[in-house]
Amino acid sequence: MKKLFVKTYGCQMNAYDSDRMADALAPAGFVTTAEMDDADLVILNTCHIREKAAEKVYSELGRIRGLKTERGKAGERMMVAVAGCVAQAEGAEIMRRAPVVDMVFGPQSYHRLPDIVARADNGARVIETEYPAEDKFEHLPEAAPDKIRERGRTAFLTVQEGCDKFCTFCVVPYTRGAEVSRPLDQIVAEAERLAGNGVCEITLIGQNVNAWHGAGPDGREWTLGRLLHRLAEVPGLARLRYTTSHPRDMDDELIASHRDLGALMPYLHLPVQAGSDRILDAMNRHHTAADYLRLVERIRAARPDIALSGDFIVGFPGETAAEFEATMRLVEDVGYAQAYSFKYSARPGTPAADAADQVAEAEKSDRLARLQELLTRQQRAFNTACAGRVVDVLMEREGRKSGQIAGRSPYLQAVQIEAPADLIGTIVPVEIVSAGPNSLNGRLAGAGTGGHA
Ligand code: SAH
Ligand code: SF4
Ligand code: F3S
Repeated sequence: MKKLFVKTYGCQMNAYDSDRMADALAPAGFVTTAEMDDADLVILNTCHIREKAAEKVYSELGRIRGLKTERGKAGERMMVAVAGCVAQAEGAEIMRRAPVVDMVFGPQSYHRLPDIVARADNGARVIETEYPAEDKFEHLPEAAPDKIRERGRTAFLTVQEGCDKFCTFCVVPYTRGAEVSRPLDQIVAEAERLAGNGVCEITLIGQNVNAWHGAGPDGREWTLGRLLHRLAEVPGLARLRYTTSHPRDMDDELIASHRDLGALMPYLHLPVQAGSDRILDAMNRHHTAADYLRLVERIRAARPDIALSGDFIVGFPGETAAEFEATMRLVEDVGYAQAYSFKYSARPGTPAADAADQVAEAEKSDRLARLQELLTRQQRAFNTACAGRVVDVLMEREGRKSGQIAGRSPYLQAVQIEAPADLIGTIVPVEIVSAGPNSLNGRLAGAGTGGHA
């Protein structure tokens, strides 16, 4: 038996992949450990989206070098691997800069892990960053039932990977490759397997999840809306979510699913990035601010209580003060329940990185502070408006204080209640008593449903 420690950075795709790496290495005798110190194999599953994220890898490798040396002195071998998007983007550079690294492999090669690790174990330094033609999902082993149970009631399921959109600021099309949809049968089989082992909430994930399409059993081309209807039929699946969506790929069928499917939770992450049409065009987003607002209107007509979330970039090259105000106006117009916002970070190899008119760092900081102040106010308002309502909460874990348990509302808010721990894993009605900026407090308002052992 050997011990595996995986550290995950970045988005849900990486979180999903980290579990798949553990599953792929289980047959080779690896069990996961929560401690890096006693691991035989350390994998850093990295993110390249912004400079700060990518830099974390090198500082972490610095720490690991000391650990590996100590372990070596004790006569123990510790292997170190870098996976994920930094591995894909700068694999050779990692090997050059960090001799502590034994293996570098990109997101498309995780099904080959037992072989890669065996080669490194024999003393080779291995780089695997070519995209193999075969579909990695077809070759990845399934999670063992006890593993699925251990991971809890909620699960991610990758349905789409990669991106063909080429926003001018973004590295994803280069680190994750072209858009690929997983076939319907594979997705349904994985969903049934998860549900059969206690999972009651599945979040479908993909860089552009709403671009998913696949051949249906009726001979037609299915899109995400049809897929959601199909998954809602899987026994035991009480809740469905999907993320992240591109505004260009929200089709009528998907919007109608928010009206028609009870299992589809009223929460949608729909990044817009900016509110100025000139900036949106320079970002290559292929829509205007007005297009986005119309889309939001159609989604709200289908599901009036939907909680909207977004991503924003401030200080994209050439963004003027007036153009930034257009972002503020768009946020005012939409009213978000939750959001992420970032300072533009120039990424090597992307078109915008070479633009001459980069915005000064101090200016970016000012804009970010103003935007975040507005978004936080909106989030607080959304949460406060929930006070007094009864919402279904999927209880997932013990709360921060003893005697409390915590879970998620349909709107993805964190909710704490005082209740016995045996309600963890069930969906219970909760009356919201008070609301903070980041979580809600409530009390049990009746008997639970949806729990299955
Ligand atoms: N596919 C998703 C986003 C994936 S990246 C979409 O199209 O919306 C997640 C978020 O990181 C993006 O929405 C964007 O807001 C942010 N981001 C991506 N590249 C960035 C960069 N170079 N600088 C700052 N933020 C960036
Ligand atoms: Fe990046 Fe744009 Fe693709 Fe999203 S749609 S992953 S922001 S290139
Ligand atoms: Fe980061 Fe790669 Fe995800 S760059 S955001 S881990 S797709």
